[in-house]
Amino acid sequence: MNATIIGSQMGDEGKGGIVDVFGDGADVVVRYQGGDNAGHTVAEDGTEYALRLLPSGVVRGKTGVLGNGCVVSLETLFDEIDTLRERGLEPDVRVSSRAHVVLPYHRVLDQLSETARSETTDAVGTTGNGIGPAYEDKASRRGIRIADLLAPEVLRERLEYAVALKRRLVDEPSATGSGNAFDVDHLFETLREYGKRLEANGMIVDTGEFLTERSREGETILFESAQGTHIDVDHGTYPFVTSSNPTAGGAIVGTGVSPSVVADGHVIGVVKSYLTRVGNGPLPTEFEEDVADDFRETVGGFGTVTGRPRRIGWLDLPMVRASARVNGFTGIALNHVDALAGLEELRVCTAYELEGETLRTPPSTVEAWNRCSPQYERFETWSDRDWRAIADQGYDALPEAARTFVEFVSADLECPVFAVGVGPDREETIVLRNPFDPTDREQDDRNTGRDHPVSS
Ligand code: GDP
Ligand code: IMO
Ligand code: MG
Repeated sequence: MNATIIGSQMGDEGKGGIVDVFGDGADVVVRYQGGDNAGHTVAEDGTEYALRLLPSGVVRGKTGVLGNGCVVSLETLFDEIDTLRERGLEPDVRVSSRAHVVLPYHRVLDQLSETARSETTDAVGTTGNGIGPAYEDKASRRGIRIADLLAPEVLRERLEYAVALKRRLVDEPSATGSGNAFDVDHLFETLREYGKRLEANGMIVDTGEFLTERSREGETILFESAQGTHIDVDHGTYPFVTSSNPTAGGAIVGTGVSPSVVADGHVIGVVKSYLTRVGNGPLPTEFEEDVADDFRETVGGFGTVTGRPRRIGWLDLPMVRASARVNGFTGIALNHVDALAGLEELRVCTAYELEGETLRTPPSTVEAWNRCSPQYERFETWSDRDWRAIADQGYDALPEAARTFVEFVSADLECPVFAVGVGPDREETIVLRNPFDPTDREQDDRNTGRDHPVSS
């Protein structure tokens, strides 16, 4: 039995924390797309880990795998491994031989392209980590893959070809402040060193084979998405998206397992009780600037990777309904319920109006999406309280208004609630159902329809 955890909005829904909570039941935790543009926070008894590349399950000592769909900055990879070691952990990490490497020139090109686009107001507001350019090279068949690091002749030949092309994109590579980013010899030496380290530690695997084998041996796999459904390159607010597929289909192509492996278990959508976006693109429920500032003060809405202020809006159900459909959510984890405490009003967007028509899910272009007016339903608010104590007591200890909110969202999405987040810490997540609980599964098999939203 496996499970997949997916961001249902635009990233930073609290996926890291939910992977941590449910990761206890998994043997292997796999990232299948993205790279160090992610920032996943795990908080365990006040100790916080912010992981950009390693799967969040490594904090619990699970085997962490980076699938072929990831783009890997080797510098970040080894920095994170070393940092965790310094903190007393022994991360067991495997990387796909087919994963692409993010090179220093990808970062330079990411920044150059953002600067050029900013003059046309089309800047995506990327994290600047070279993610888009690395995926461009993958699709254009001039990328460097992890396996290439072990084959010096192949590596040199590929680098010479790629670097010559990159140099043509940059007027004066030496003037970009990019150091050795366009120097073949330097890149070759650095990559060979990384290759030797990966090989010496037995970290390189064929992830399809590795995961299928572990699954056949009865081990459980948790697929950890980065980013979110609405910044998916296909299903998101294109062109204001990342360059990979965080959606559930990505877990198949991004690891090399068959669809049946991903289908053998729950797909849990992580839903933030409000909405945040780092970077540009549509956000119909966005707060006015002064309201967003106040909210940010209390909930700390700054990007985990870039430190940029997150844009903030009301929970947008049309967006999450589309996510439930494209990912096939069998459950949700509703986070940040505590963060809504003390608001003067609480709104949820239940539909959009576009040119006199009511839409239940978003349109497919940003131009249309930008013209949508959100239609709201208002809810009773609740006051701040001791959330840790509430988490200890369980779901029924939540304020009644909060339960009404949770159950409304669950019923609208036709998805049972697996967890409710009332704080960042592992102990501040109320678990109602566990995707790795076999008795829960038997119950699901017996039920032809869906359970009561929050039945435990
Ligand atoms: P991810 O990228 O989806 O893993 O999310 P991030 O780690 O980037 O951002 C989520 C932030 O909210 C982190 O600082 C988490 O520790 C925090 N967080 C997660 N769940 C909750 C919750 O239920 N309540 C509160 N107040 N904070 C939460
Ligand atoms: P996690 O996994 C929030 C956003 C960037 C930008 C767009 C493209 O922590 O939820 P990129 O660097 O990927 O080319 O940037 O995507 N973005 C994220 N926003 N959370 C993330 O990851 C993000 N990863 C990328 O802000 O708008
Ligand atoms: Mg994040």
